[in-house]
Amino acid sequence: MLSPDFTPAPFVLLALSTWLVWCLWSFFRPRDQHSLRSVAIVVLGDIGRSPRMMYHAESFAQHDFYTDVICYGGSRPIPSLTRANLDIRYLPEPPRWLTALPFLLSAPCKVALQVFAVFLKLFATPNPPEFILVQNPPSIPTLAIVWLVAHMRGSKVIIDWHNLGYSILAMRFPKQGERHPLVRVAKWFERTFGRSAYAHLFVTRAMRDHLVKEWDLQGVKVVLHDRPPKRFHRTTPQGIHELFIKLNESLSREPSLKGFLTTSEPPYSSAFTASNASPSDPHLSNTPPPPSSAINPIYSEVDAPFLRDDRPALVVSSTSWTADEDFGILLDALTKYEARARTTRKLPKLLVVVTGKGPLREHYMATVASLQKKQKWQHVRCISLWLEPADYPVLLGGADLGVCLHASSSGLDLPMKVVDMFGCELPVCALRFGCLDELVKEGVNGLVFDDADQLAEQMETLLGGFPQCPRLDSLRANLTPTSDVARSPPHAPEEVWEPWDDHWARVVRPIILRDVRANEG
Ligand SMILES: *[C@@H]1O[C@H](CO)[C@@H](O)[C@H](O)[C@H]1NC(C)=O
Repeated sequence: MLSPDFTPAPFVLLALSTWLVWCLWSFFRPRDQHSLRSVAIVVLGDIGRSPRMMYHAESFAQHDFYTDVICYGGSRPIPSLTRANLDIRYLPEPPRWLTALPFLLSAPCKVALQVFAVFLKLFATPNPPEFILVQNPPSIPTLAIVWLVAHMRGSKVIIDWHNLGYSILAMRFPKQGERHPLVRVAKWFERTFGRSAYAHLFVTRAMRDHLVKEWDLQGVKVVLHDRPPKRFHRTTPQGIHELFIKLNESLSREPSLKGFLTTSEPPYSSAFTASNASPSDPHLSNTPPPPSSAINPIYSEVDAPFLRDDRPALVVSSTSWTADEDFGILLDALTKYEARARTTRKLPKLLVVVTGKGPLREHYMATVASLQKKQKWQHVRCISLWLEPADYPVLLGGADLGVCLHASSSGLDLPMKVVDMFGCELPVCALRFGCLDELVKEGVNGLVFDDADQLAEQMETLLGGFPQCPRLDSLRANLTPTSDVARSPPHAPEEVWEPWDDHWARVVRPIILRDVRANEG
């Protein structure tokens, strides 16, 4: 029954809801009060292990942008990120018990936590940033959060497409792949929230062409290839000498290297280098021995070290030890090389150094160790090394050959480690996939293989006669910054091979400094 009495309830309700709507409106209404030249960079991963995002942050900060990096911690970021106009805001790690749950349970919980954490951080700044740069993948939940926040605060979104999130997810379901319902949802999500942005940056031309065609992306679209930072370059014999003196301890701990490397007398010689000065040199023998850790000024007194002819060829591969890199190919190839080296005199000993951390490391290193022992390998050793970040380019720049086993989930991205290797003027043998030819030009800066047999053959042809290897030298010559290949004018700005800073300034700066038209394409 309706009461005939007057009640204030509807009026109160009306007033309340009007107030609520007003609040919501003022919260969500688009604004234009962002501080110019500011950027928030969102990375749902360990920033120290996301080189491209660190380089982005550095470049924005160098261009006087007030830069906020919102990310997870873990490893130490590169030192150049310590700047007055750059802040790193760490997201809280998801609790441990979450990772113990099965993926289908843990993933949604993790995402919910991330939504909450990223929101808080993005709203923590009093003024909205002019730009929000977000890395994709992961797409869920970042793309939606960034999309929403940008709508609410009037920031412009730049999506940095490293790969396709759903294609990585599809690898978790090998049976159904892209037909798995979860993968379909992920694809819908990525497409919906990734479709329109102020600008899209792509790691390859192939990815740009694919997404523009399939998803009809809106906004400025430019290819920004990975490029090595300036500090990546070829290592001098002096640098190689210092590195191996420093690595003496970790190399001595490897049981498999006993008797494989020539003995040396640090600091006068290492397994790879020697100098004319010897410990019996009266001038040097009076100096106290240097502490083993620090690079000591005494090395400058060690007469110009040179590479010794009896050194093994140094092959470097860096891997994240995940299922999408078949390390077995390299092991097979090394087994074949060992067999060949026993019958051919001209093949050198190989020291294969594998860098990187990851889930399958223990498994593969145990396999290597047992292979080496069972088959009594004499010519090949494969070890995994942990290097300080600053030593990584020194090792690459001092190596003879790089090996890349990257196979992409989408076929549309490129291995950054090869970019690093090329920056250090190190030719590579790389596993063939999708758009590799945007980076590795066969016979010019490296060779491309399809299987272990080919890789073994390529190592033989390139390293036969070591240390005199004309084919390897000609590949390397094409990687020097002054080579004809490097200087010949490329067709498009994105093709130019130059250090990251210069490349970023060429490709990205015009977009963020409002000169948009010049870059449309
Ligand atoms: C490490 O140093 C010792 C001498 O201190 C030397 O005998 C050994 O050969 C060195 N090992 C390597 C791998 O350089």
